[in-house]
Amino acid sequence: MKAKSLFLMAAFISCTALAEDHRQFAPLPPAAQESLREEMLGNLLALNEILTLMAAGKVKEAGQLAEKALGQSAQGKHRDKPLDARPGPHMPPAMHGIGIDGHVAASQFAKAASSGDRKKALALLPKLTEGCVSCHYSYRTR
Ligand code: HEC
Repeated sequence: MKAKSLFLMAAFISCTALAEDHRQFAPLPPAAQESLREEMLGNLLALNEILTLMAAGKVKEAGQLAEKALGQSAQGKHRDKPLDARPGPHMPPAMHGIGIDGHVAASQFAKAASSGDRKKALALLPKLTEGCVSCHYSYRTR
C-alpha cells in the first residue's frame, strides 16, 4: 500500500475514533428494540450465508436466500406483534424509508441472482449492504 493511502486511512480511523456520535437519536420502546436486534442478527447471518453461496458459485441459491431473508418478502415480519414491539412505526419516517429501500435493493440483487446471471448478480451485490450502511451511519437507538 502506498504511503499516502496509509496516511489517509490512519487519519480516517483516528477521526472516527475521536469524533462525537452525530447520528440522529431514534428512541424506540424496549420491546421494539428487542425485535429489531433479533432481526439485525438475522440480517448479518443471512448476509454471511449469501456471500458464502456466491463464493461457491451457488448464485441461484444466493438469490433465493436474499429474497427470503433480506428482500421485500422479508418486509413486515413484525406486523402481528403488539405496537410497542414493532420497530417501524416508532422510527422517524426517513429512517423507516431507508429500511424499506433496503428491502427493495436486496430484491434487485435477488432477482438477478435467482436468474443465475452471475455477472449481473456480482454487480448488484453491494445493494445488499447499502441500506445497512446508510441507516447505521445516520441513526442510533442508544
Ligand atoms: C432502518 C435502519 C437499519 C437498517 C436498514 C439496518 N439496520 Fe442494523 N441496526 C439498526 C439499529 C437501530 C440497531 C440497534 C438496535 C438496538 O437498539 O439494539 C441495529 C443493530 C444491528 C446489529 C447489532 C445487533 C446486536 O448484536 O445488538 C447488527 C449486527 C446489524 N444491525 C446488522 C445490520 C445489517 C447486516 C443490515 C443490512 C442487511 C442492517 N443492520 C440494516 C438499524 C438498521
